[in-house]
Amino acid sequence: MAFFKKKKIEWDKALLPAHLGIIMDGNGRWAKKRALPRSAGHRAGAKTFRTITRYCSNIGIKYLTVYAFSTENWKRPQEEVDALMTLFEEYLREALTDFKDDDIVVKFIGDKTAFSPKLQALIDETESSSAQRPGMVLNIAMNYGSRDELVTATKKIAEKISEHSLKIDEITEQTVSDNLYTAGQPDPDLIIRPSGDHRISNFLLWQSAYAEYIVMDILWPDFKTSDLDAALLEFTKRSRRFGGV
Ligand code: FPP
Repeated sequence: MAFFKKKKIEWDKALLPAHLGIIMDGNGRWAKKRALPRSAGHRAGAKTFRTITRYCSNIGIKYLTVYAFSTENWKRPQEEVDALMTLFEEYLREALTDFKDDDIVVKFIGDKTAFSPKLQALIDETESSSAQRPGMVLNIAMNYGSRDELVTATKKIAEKISEHSLKIDEITEQTVSDNLYTAGQPDPDLIIRPSGDHRISNFLLWQSAYAEYIVMDILWPDFKTSDLDAALLEFTKRSRRFGGV
């Protein structure tokens, strides 16, 4: 994609995506380039996460979903998984106070039951203490996989049918949406994937049916607010037809 001159942009909120998704990719490659352990890449990526989250909230994005840990990431070396869990704990502790001034609502999407009791308690505290804030909703996708989310939604719907609170004929696309982790939220308008890979990686499969995708050749720890501006500018130029003409 084309890159633009770095200058501060005053965003017209009506042109921005209401819901932005980001696949925070490239932490490992960033660390490798510097002969550092992968955990150093995740630490640098976590800093970027904080900066970009704040920026999104400041410019008027309403919903931001970041992919932090997938259902498949458990396959990574134990040392890396442990480092990520430590990082999540640290960041959630900070998020409890940190995102307060920005009025950010913090939600977690994914299967929380796989995390340590300590991390689960922190997740619950972060969610409940931020729920009433008026600002941007930040979805942190942790132990998230879109297929797993769809299986979970299918089970919830099947349960309603077996309890006779829902009839098969009454199932619509809305029924599926209403049973996803993102229930009640608008579908993402734009998904950004830094670090150059043209893959969806099991991220918001149902929700991103009509999302615009932007892949950028920059590793997530190096991703700056000016890179986000460039992607948003590109988004404003896309013609979205949602299957129409
Ligand atoms: C993908 O890069 C990144 C991850 C699996 C971890 C992302 C986590 C963070 C940025 C920390 C954010 C913290 C919170 C609390 C949300 P990769 O390791 O797959 O990179 P590679 O493809 O270059 O190996």
